[in-house]
Amino acid sequence: MKRFIFSVVTLVILLSGSLSHTAYSQTANGSKVSARAHAGVTLALPLKDGSVKFAVIGDTGTGTSKQHDVAETMVRYRAAFPYEFALLLGDNMYGSEDAADFEKKFSDPYKQLLAQNVKFYAALGNHDQALQTNYVNFNMDGKEYYRFKKGNVAFYALNSNYMDKKQVQWLNDELAKDTSEWKVAFMHHPPYSSGGKHGSDKQLREVIEPIFVKYGVNVVLTGHDHFYERIIPQKGIYYFVSGAGGKLRSGDIKKGTGLTAKGYDRDMSFMLFEVVNGKQMHFQAISRTGETIDSGVLLHQKAKQ
Ligand SMILES: [Fe+2]
Repeated sequence: MKRFIFSVVTLVILLSGSLSHTAYSQTANGSKVSARAHAGVTLALPLKDGSVKFAVIGDTGTGTSKQHDVAETMVRYRAAFPYEFALLLGDNMYGSEDAADFEKKFSDPYKQLLAQNVKFYAALGNHDQALQTNYVNFNMDGKEYYRFKKGNVAFYALNSNYMDKKQVQWLNDELAKDTSEWKVAFMHHPPYSSGGKHGSDKQLREVIEPIFVKYGVNVVLTGHDHFYERIIPQKGIYYFVSGAGGKLRSGDIKKGTGLTAKGYDRDMSFMLFEVVNGKQMHFQAISRTGETIDSGVLLHQKAKQ
């Protein structure tokens, strides 16, 4: 009876769209997590002190009003979920790359986040010039691929435009000595994607997947296709496509690829992540307007050979 009343109350809260209560939502793995309420925000993350919190956006650099919309929603969510940094998954700058473009396509749309000291870490996409590595707000320190660490999570920014021997060797060497609990790689081109326009980059997959598997990379974040897709885990690795931070390719997710755990190609989007401990990484994908597209918990798992 108690359970029935609780269910009805929860349903009423959800149906009424009330923002002044803590609601509960079903996550991808079936568990329930609290969805905290702020103005225009429904947070499906645990929001623990001391956790590693970050945002993810891809294919952003257009300077359009819709890129600004996504940025504003990110600001709104940050009031509820104070992430310290954001990963840029490439195509940070479409078209020309003059000083005015860096302002129009990056520092202006994200000015509120920059003012709040959110640090952006960029990977290069096919539209990006290598000179972006020296742009101070991209924190690349002059490098096309680099590693940094936050808490128990190691992040590898890769240049998927040129996965040459030198980069592959560097990645091997770094991963071989990496004892971090979580290893997250981010780059522009997706080894797995259901995109009609681009889809899976199989050449890249051939080179990079064995390294990810060998060294237990847990999560791979990519863009290039302009939608959101959570891929069914491949060889024990979680892959995401989040390439709709400034562009949308509406209806581009192909059905029947056998890859899609969850897809969303109706509006632009970004992601939030929270790593609470060595076992669980929580994620939430959010649309331009603030709607939750997907959420859940990634359980730490050893990659399979
Ligand atoms: Fe691209």
